[in-house]
Amino acid sequence: MPSLEEQLVALKSQAPADFTAATDPDSLEAVRVKYLGRQGSLPDLMKQLGSALPADRARLGKLANEAKIAVQSAFEQRKDDLENANAGADAARFDTTLPGRMRPVGRLHPLTQTMERVVAIFQRIGFTIAEGPEIEDEWHCFDALNTPGDHPARDLQDTLYLKDGRLLRTQTSTVQIRVMETHKPPIRIIAPGRVFRRDEVDATHSACFHQIEGLYVAEGVSVADLKGTMEFFFRELLGPETKTRFRPHFFPYTEPSFEIDFSATSLGLKGRKWLEIAGCGMVDPNVFKAVGYDPEKFTGFAFGMGVERIAMILHGIDDIRLFYENDVRFLHQF
Ligand code: DAH
Repeated sequence: MPSLEEQLVALKSQAPADFTAATDPDSLEAVRVKYLGRQGSLPDLMKQLGSALPADRARLGKLANEAKIAVQSAFEQRKDDLENANAGADAARFDTTLPGRMRPVGRLHPLTQTMERVVAIFQRIGFTIAEGPEIEDEWHCFDALNTPGDHPARDLQDTLYLKDGRLLRTQTSTVQIRVMETHKPPIRIIAPGRVFRRDEVDATHSACFHQIEGLYVAEGVSVADLKGTMEFFFRELLGPETKTRFRPHFFPYTEPSFEIDFSATSLGLKGRKWLEIAGCGMVDPNVFKAVGYDPEKFTGFAFGMGVERIAMILHGIDDIRLFYENDVRFLHQF
């Protein structure tokens, strides 16, 4: 029977070779049990250490310790190697020729797209974006816009009022007032935004929709500037063949006022030659007075149009409700 010393030396050299020979988790586990298990050779030799002669104890103890470290590190090393090899095999099994998993790409809502298109055209000719609050007061939505207290637009039937007397703005014309109250001419702004009306919802009406307002104030601005700007805009938006027509109309905040119709052969207008698209006019002197501008010195034009209406015309959409249902089958077409 070999001495304890011989056994320890043998263990120290044999164990690493045995661990290296293990090629899968099961055989590795078998080798681990053989050396490190409760009945394994290492604990067994450790036990024998207790009955060694006192004179040999220190030398044998040191040797036993070295054997233990050798066995344990051989095991850890082999375990790591096998795990890494496994990961490598997984990667090798990954089939790079399989089709990838589609991640649907999002896009801007058609109303946002339309708004950005309109705004970009005006930015090219020097207009800057202005914004105002959706919750407004009567001053900015009506009074300052020369809209008298008995005007039907102010009716409870048409405007959504809050309990405190404020209201949800019914038009983006409010932004004109806010900008003029805080800035001096010259002013050239384009104001896209959400507006609210107490409307029955149907194919062409929504209680919440979007408008784009424009305002240009300086010295010597004329109706010719208004017409030139609008004609340029609609040709840019709807194509170079587009014709525009100005019909006299009434808005409280402009004088004279017009409705703009357009005609474009490129768009299917359902047999109609002219389609109404925007309101506009020369800013009423009373509006200038309300914001503290001198109407003798400054003139200007303003205009407003509905974003939904433009998007519907551009894309041939016949029901406004489609914009708000967020059905991706509809939305992914734009
Ligand atoms: N505020 C009008 C509306 O809601 C649109 C409009 C018309 C705006 C004429 C204007 C304007 O600035 O001059 O229908």
